[in-house]
Amino acid sequence: MKIRPMTIEDYDEIYAMWQTTSKRALSAADEREQIRRYLERNEDMSQVAVIDGRIVGTVLAGHDGRRGFIHHMAVLPEYRRKHIGRCLAQTAIERIKAQGIDKTHIFCYQNNETGQSFWSDFGFKKRDDVFVFSLDNERL
Ligand SMILES: CC(C)(COP(=O)(O)OP(=O)(O)OC[C@H]1O[C@@H](n2cnc3c(N)ncnc32)[C@H](O)[C@@H]1OP(=O)(O)O)[C@@H](O)C(=O)NCCC(=O)NCCS
Repeated sequence: MKIRPMTIEDYDEIYAMWQTTSKRALSAADEREQIRRYLERNEDMSQVAVIDGRIVGTVLAGHDGRRGFIHHMAVLPEYRRKHIGRCLAQTAIERIKAQGIDKTHIFCYQNNETGQSFWSDFGFKKRDDVFVFSLDNERL
């Protein structure tokens, strides 16, 4: 298994993978041009796991200058529980840390028990003191 930076050339393969692993989390923000912009703004930070030439795992990693954020942490079902996710998360967080950022946040659906177990096992602490508020900017 090899972990390497995600490139926009990976887009078709990773988007197809996300249809299986992360459908609920997909939005217009995951279209090709948005992902291209994300990868350009956060150079070499997002990662893919590759086995026999096939992408089997992804993680989007970036920061806003203050805090790191991770999205689309995903591993294909048939490759799970082999610590591929852990390796991807570790690489992503190392990249965030290397940018001088001292804390990383993730968003996880409340009923995603697998995601919660995964992040807790990694060492993330679940916050009970924060809500996420979101605005569709077209409403302005
Ligand atoms: C979450 C996900 C990325 C984990 O990938 P993975 O490669 O299977 O994870 P790892 O093998 O690295 O697991 C590391 C640890 O996380 C925990 N963990 C992972 N999957 C778990 C599960 N289904 N149930 C309980 N704990 C789990 C375990 O502690 C595990 O260590 P162990 O296997 O030694 O017990 C994968 O299940 C996935 O793609 N899920 C769908 C997408 C998703 O929900 N992503 C998270 C969004 S917040």
